[in-house]
Amino acid sequence: MKKILFLFGTRPEAIKMIPLIKECEKHPHLWELRVCVTGQHKEMLDQVLTFFEVKPHENLALMKPNQTLFDITADGLIKMAALLEKEQPDLVMIHGDTTSAFTGALAAFYKKIKIAHIEAGLRSGNKYSTFPEEVNRKMAGIIADFHFAPTSNARNNLLKEHITEHVYVTGNTVIDAVFLTLEQMKGKDQYAEYFNFLDLRKKIILITGHRRESFGKPLEEMCMAVKAVAEKYASCVEIVYPVHLNPQVQEPVRRILENHENIHLIAPLEYPYLLWLMQHCYLVLTDSGGLQEEGPALKKPVLVMRDVTERTEGIAAGTATLVGTSREKIERAVSTLLEDDIIYQQMVNAINPYGNGTSARQIMEILSGIV
Ligand code: UD1
Ligand code: UDP
Repeated sequence: MKKILFLFGTRPEAIKMIPLIKECEKHPHLWELRVCVTGQHKEMLDQVLTFFEVKPHENLALMKPNQTLFDITADGLIKMAALLEKEQPDLVMIHGDTTSAFTGALAAFYKKIKIAHIEAGLRSGNKYSTFPEEVNRKMAGIIADFHFAPTSNARNNLLKEHITEHVYVTGNTVIDAVFLTLEQMKGKDQYAEYFNFLDLRKKIILITGHRRESFGKPLEEMCMAVKAVAEKYASCVEIVYPVHLNPQVQEPVRRILENHENIHLIAPLEYPYLLWLMQHCYLVLTDSGGLQEEGPALKKPVLVMRDVTERTEGIAAGTATLVGTSREKIERAVSTLLEDDIIYQQMVNAINPYGNGTSARQIMEILSGIV
């Protein structure tokens, strides 16, 4: 039996790691399971853990309001040293590109513990976008021993960087999380009840936006675009924005978008509520990574408010469009999808390139043969 330690700290990591944790739990004779959270996020992480009934064995409780990259990197590394010293796992599982993931990889490397990197190989080609994630994922790639690329494109990115051993293409575990959650939601009407403030005869636009490189002018531009869309389509569109808890996001979003009848600024949603809203929306407008992958799984077009993306597969497949961060471009792109049914249907019917819901099983099977 091998001791496997899952180490993560933010909402999206939790959503994408939980299918692997559940898969591990099915094989107690193979894996001694430890779940350790860095606590880089607090409320937004707890929401996910509570819904999926995952109780971490350890919580490093890193989060403080308005934390800097220095805070989470330095505090995280110090606390991880003690954690790994105590736990002595055979394998550390990290996910994606957060600072929890990068420092987790570095800490495990310093302890000479094997590392599996889930969602490996995503690249935007611009080290400041997304920031600091592009560099986090590259550094995690250099350090890790086992690389689970969601797509062959991601594998090719790793090969180009001469990361050639133990690279596996498995799809993205977020699709597993979507299916798992939809299954648990069946037959429950609490989701529809929660959203009873929405008129579902109108076109619903789901918005999220929180990236560090968007703080300041780009985020303000995004909000101005949303406001313009809300005003232009006041009679037929409703906009729902679950606002990230970062004060740097809360302030401009509330300043620009509060007090509009058809704009609903709401608290971060528990995962099944987010999926319900996505299922019932017309389109998704976002700078998030995960929503670019979930949109096509639920057949919803995604407009990406960024200049570059590391999720290039969705752009190539036609499930997502990169619209930049200027007010005019965002407004134009949303208007096109609201008004042009041919373009809209093309995006709806494009094929989801991110997996089929079996990624967690594939990854744990591979690991059981190599760790
Ligand atoms: C982090 C990740 C980003 C990921 C995002 C998912 C890094 C550098 N960034 O960015 O890659 O896309 O999570 O959401 O790893 N806050 C709360 N409660 C919470 C969570 C956050 O109050 O539950 C507030 C705090 O004031 C915190 C701030 O948000 O200091 C920023 O959190 P942080 O994790 O540093 O940045 P994110 O933008 O969430
Ligand atoms: N999400 C959620 N509730 C919300 C907003 C997002 O559960 O109110 C989920 C979303 O479905 C996706 C993940 O959180 O799986 C994305 O997280 P986030 O946008 O914070 O990070 P990113 O994907 O950009 O790294």
